[in-house]
Amino acid sequence: MGGVSVDEAMRRAIELGARGLGTTSPNPVVGCVLLDADGTVVGEGFHAYTGGPHAEIVALAQAGERARGGTAVVTLEPCDHTGRTGPCSHALIRAGIARVVVAVPDPNPVASGGAATLRAAGVRVEFGVRADEAEAGNVAWLTSMRRGWPYLIWKYAATLDGRSAAVDGSSMWITSEAARMDVHALRGTVDAVIAGVGTVLTDDPRLTARNLRDGTLAIRQPLRVVVDSAGRTPADARVRDGAARTWIATVAEVGAGPDGRVDLPALLAELHHRGVRAALLEGGPRLAGAFLAAGLVDRVVGYVAPKLLGGGPAALIDAGVTTIADAIDLELTDVTRVGSDLRITALPRKREA
Ligand SMILES: NC(=O)c1ccc[n+]([C@@H]2O[C@H](COP(=O)([O-])OP(=O)(O)OC[C@H]3O[C@@H](n4cnc5c(N)ncnc54)[C@H](OP(=O)(O)O)[C@@H]3O)[C@@H](O)[C@H]2O)c1
Repeated sequence: MGGVSVDEAMRRAIELGARGLGTTSPNPVVGCVLLDADGTVVGEGFHAYTGGPHAEIVALAQAGERARGGTAVVTLEPCDHTGRTGPCSHALIRAGIARVVVAVPDPNPVASGGAATLRAAGVRVEFGVRADEAEAGNVAWLTSMRRGWPYLIWKYAATLDGRSAAVDGSSMWITSEAARMDVHALRGTVDAVIAGVGTVLTDDPRLTARNLRDGTLAIRQPLRVVVDSAGRTPADARVRDGAARTWIATVAEVGAGPDGRVDLPALLAELHHRGVRAALLEGGPRLAGAFLAAGLVDRVVGYVAPKLLGGGPAALIDAGVTTIADAIDLELTDVTRVGSDLRITALPRKREA
């Protein structure tokens, strides 16, 4: 079999890393491919779950002696610290790896330093191969580690005329079953799901990740967060059903923002502290408006149904915009048909301070 280029190996490592999405948090997703001196793949691995072996360790175990003198191609700088597992930098040195090619440096001050340790042991280390792709595959983790609060995805469902509920308040169901299944899959990739107390009082949602057909819960459940200034969440609300962990975030616990309601930056900082790297904001429109007005949303995922209501609350309320020049500008990154609906993904453009 012919050899594989470092670039091809990195593409494969990124693919492998993505398999861990949703199960590695608060750790990153990482993929690793080992090449021997001829460029033959001798080991592959990815970080599959929190506390499990790191990608490099899995790949080294597969390669055994064939790793000696070879190249490790890794999506993220190998860690240099002893957490639940030993430092990967030391394992690579012990295995006799001659060269390490990395896509993205590790921004985590606790784990970084792997490159320096490897170089000190005489291993060649290079950065930057397919960095943009690797960055995109790990965007939630990298973003949250660099700035200290979670990557926030605002998800909503609306009719084609932008309504999130009908005049009488009914909103089940705006979108098709396929779209709702898609949302459950999205919940399975985040560490927390956030909703306002208004939504809890109106819809009494469970906010769990589950199979919609038979109700089976996913093995890994995101933390359910209710943003509830005065603690109005009823004792018998479904979010308190014990199916997943729940945090009722009140002003008493988190602190108040300028409007006397829950301080949103403080809420996100606390979530980061609790190990949340990616969070899904599920509304409603008032809470979403507050997060957007504060510039705290990183990605918008809108499920738009081919229905018209002609009345009822808008999908977004009070986002701090009163004139068209101040509209929150988004960059469309994906439009996909899901069942009978459209899923539109867009990124808020950075605004001037
Ligand atoms: N179509 C969709 O995707 C979708 C999704 C969810 C909900 N909904 C619909 O939305 C409706 C409920 O929406 P809603 O706007 O009334 O409620 P909401 O956005 O779920 O919750 C708003 C409440 O959150 C609390 N809150 C705490 N801190 C806040 C802060 N810093 N900024 C803003 N709010 C804060 C406030 O009550 P306190 O001050 O008392 O805490 C506020 O009234 C329902 O009809 C539901 O069906 C639709």
